[in-house]
Formats: sequence, structure tokens, C-alpha cells
Amino acid sequence: MKKIIIALDGFSSCGKSSTAKKVAAALSYAFIDTGAMYRTVALYFVRNNVNYSDIEKVKKALKEIHITFQFNPSTMASDAILNGENVEAEIRKMYISELVSSISSIPEVRYEMVAQQQKMGLDKGIVMDGRDIGTVVFPNAELKIFMTADPLIRAQRRQLELAQKGENVPIEAILDNLQKRDQIDMTRSEGPLKKADDAIELDTSQRTLEGQVEFVLEQVRRVQ
Ligand code: C5P
Repeated sequence: MKKIIIALDGFSSCGKSSTAKKVAAALSYAFIDTGAMYRTVALYFVRNNVNYSDIEKVKKALKEIHITFQFNPSTMASDAILNGENVEAEIRKMYISELVSSISSIPEVRYEMVAQQQKMGLDKGIVMDGRDIGTVVFPNAELKIFMTADPLIRAQRRQLELAQKGENVPIEAILDNLQKRDQIDMTRSEGPLKKADDAIELDTSQRTLEGQVEFVLEQVRRVQ
């Protein structure tokens, strides 16, 4: 069976990463969570007080950031590694969610991340989730899915995820963060969040995770 590129884009907390992870496992493909890359950049900027309105400082910082992924058998997913340090738990926290969209809107940050993502997909056999995968990173991906869901359902799912990691955040704060991030992501000049013309829409509001995975696998069988 020929190996393909699967681009999974969409709004925050629609279940993209959970779906992508399971689809990748079912096909023995690599899985890359590109949101984790932008979150890791945001973490580096916070820790090093990078003044990101100064583009020279941004470019210098980007040269110092080395992001890799390491498989974690306890979650069956890859953890983000920043310059050798496992930062997976830290980048999922609310203070990073509050900052990440401003940082991911900086064109220089996007050029660097997109270039790295394109290298990761050179051999195909990859599921990549994000906002601009089907439009910018892999405009020729064989399969593009655009995921949406009701905002309140997304916020409830996110609240549960955070609670499972020990962070209790009110639903209003989560809903507000999701909507702000989507707004910044949709309106930025470089790689805005939008459905590619040839993407298939998947509304996950009423679907289980298994249902979402089966939907994507059906589409894979169709294009292969
Ligand atoms: O996917 P996740 O919600 O973890 O992504 C965090 C943030 O990273 C998004 O809100 C968005 O600002 C940014 N992002 C992006 N492009 C991608 C993936 C994520 O701008 N391909």
C-alpha cells in the first residue's frame, strides 16, 4: 500500500491530536503534533524573556531552539523535547495556551517551523496535525481533513484533559482561551487557520474518538 501524507487541521481542541495519534498507530505511520512545536517555542521565549516584538531577538532565539520528539510508552505518544529536556507536561499548561497564538503568528517563527515540518514529511507515511498543514506545509497531501466541533464541547473536553493532569481551570476561562486562539489563528497574515479547498470536513461534536478515527481511516482507504 502506498504511503501517504495525512494533514489534520482545525480549531483548537477538536480532538485533532488524539485522532492523529490513533490513525498513525493503526497505519504504522509517524505522527507529528505541530501545536507542540509552537508551544515549545513559546516556552523557550517565556523562559528566556525573549522580547518577541524585536524580530532580531526572535531570529537569534530560533537558532537556539532545537525541538525533537521522543516516544513515551506510558502515553503511547511522543513527548516534546526542547534542547534535550522533556517539556511535554509544561507546554500543555494554561499559561502557554494563553501565549502561544501570539508567538505562532510571528512569520519568522512559522517559516522555521514549517521548514522543519516539511523535512519530517519527506518520506511520507506521516500524520501531521495543526492549522496550516493542508494549506501551507503539505498543500499536495493525499488526504486533508478539517476538524470542527461545537465550542462548548471543545472547552469541556479540554477542561477534562487539564484536570487529568492536575490543573483545574474554570470552563469560562477555557472557552475564552479557545476562542481567542482561534481568532488570532484565523486572522494572522502567515499560514492562517482555514480549511483547504480540497479538505474533507469532520465535525467531531457528536462523534466518539473511535468514530473519528474510523472516519479518517475510511478516507485513507479511499485515496490509497
Ligand atoms: O494544537 P494546539 O492547540 O496545541 O496548538 C497550539 C497553538 O499553536 C495554536 O493555538 C496555534 O496558535 C499554534 N499552531 C499553529 N500552527 C500549527 C499548529 C499550531 O499556529 N500548525
